Amino acid sequence: MLGEAGEPCPVVVLAIQPPAWPLATDAAWGAVAAAQQRLLASDARRTAAVQPQLAKVLAAFQAERLGTHHFASVSGYGHNDLGRDTLDRVFARVLGAEKAAVRLQFVSGTHAIAAALFGVLRPGDRLLSLTGRPYDTLEEVIGLRGQGQGSLAEFGINYAELPLTAAGVVDEAGLAAALAPPTRMVLIQRSCGYSWRPSLPVASIGRLCERVKALQPECLVFVDNCYGELVEALEPPQVGADLIAGSLIKNLGGTIAPSGGYVAGKAELVEQACCRLTAPGIGSEGGSGFDLHRLLFQGLFLAPQMVAESLICADLVAQVFADRGLAVQPLPGAERTDLIQAVRFGEPRALQEVCRAFQACSPVGGYVDPVPAPMPGYASELVMAGGTFIDGSTSELSADGPLREPYVLFSQGGTHRSHAALALAAALSRLDAAT
Ligand SMILES: Cc1ncc(COP(=O)(O)O)c(C=O)c1O
Repeated sequence: MLGEAGEPCPVVVLAIQPPAWPLATDAAWGAVAAAQQRLLASDARRTAAVQPQLAKVLAAFQAERLGTHHFASVSGYGHNDLGRDTLDRVFARVLGAEKAAVRLQFVSGTHAIAAALFGVLRPGDRLLSLTGRPYDTLEEVIGLRGQGQGSLAEFGINYAELPLTAAGVVDEAGLAAALAPPTRMVLIQRSCGYSWRPSLPVASIGRLCERVKALQPECLVFVDNCYGELVEALEPPQVGADLIAGSLIKNLGGTIAPSGGYVAGKAELVEQACCRLTAPGIGSEGGSGFDLHRLLFQGLFLAPQMVAESLICADLVAQVFADRGLAVQPLPGAERTDLIQAVRFGEPRALQEVCRAFQACSPVGGYVDPVPAPMPGYASELVMAGGTFIDGSTSELSADGPLREPYVLFSQGGTHRSHAALALAAALSRLDAAT
């Protein structure tokens, strides 16, 4: 780097001081600080990526002429709600989709995905997952687990799966055979979920869309987009996906959306998903925003920054545990397509110790000791550290994992890198004390 007169500028490296942090030892803090130093270049790269994403969001606000009059909502039926319609159009622009429906009435990502599947599929249709076994909570939606709840299977929808290869990637060689029977929809899960496998980049999703359409032009491509939004320059609808769904207490809610989810894609399919959320005939035209639209617009405005910060936190988790010799996925500083960082502990105790540390460092419920427990929608017991302002928000720093082999910790979110550093220093201290 050159100064004004052309002479080299000194590079200033700020010494990172151990904070007054009773939960961490000096040794643990030193390990975290060393990891932070190694990540400076990748942190800068992630920070630089905020600007184009924010430009996309601002351009959408401008094109839709967002004003304060969009913050209120119509009560009751919520018909002709200007704020809701504008929100939908803004999200559609950001996601590169024909249409989007952003609704507080979606309880979670699982709910939005279920509405999309039940809304579009009809009895006798075949649904094929291209990314192996879908996320845990979809097992009951599809009918792979549980009975008498009105799963897709109980409504006569056939399900098949193309298992991932041993390397955890889509078996592209097996695709043609898997798609030999007429198939109404393929399901692609972008993020790894609770599996030890690489998440699927948008370019790979695009390649799959092309191949699926070449083999069966009428087959629809649905993408579970949870945790992926705004991580890459393009979103799945821009590379050929017909329909996507996700949660607002993940990326796009910017950590302040109080609840909700979205579906986006081809207009007709989004409408069908909305007919399942509300009722046939009402579709996307009903549903109050409870005067909370401002939080959804503002959350979207904050989302690019929050996503970048989460990625920086994920890199730090990866670096700290890789430095301890643990297997991590993805590697620190690697290209990412989602917020999830997996760390393989191989035994339950270390997994629980790290969750304890993350919980103790949470802004809410820091006094709580997380213990493995059953959770609705999951077959395995889960241990979860997530003392977040929005209950269950995984855009805020959190760590969790199913209590099953190979005992992998999944960490995600983080509003600021300093929080991850403090939690990691506490985690290392606990691990050191336990060994
Ligand atoms: C890939 C994937 N899909 C779906 C979900 C379900 O989202 P939610 O917890 O909002 O129901 C998750 C949750 O972690 C996930 O990782």
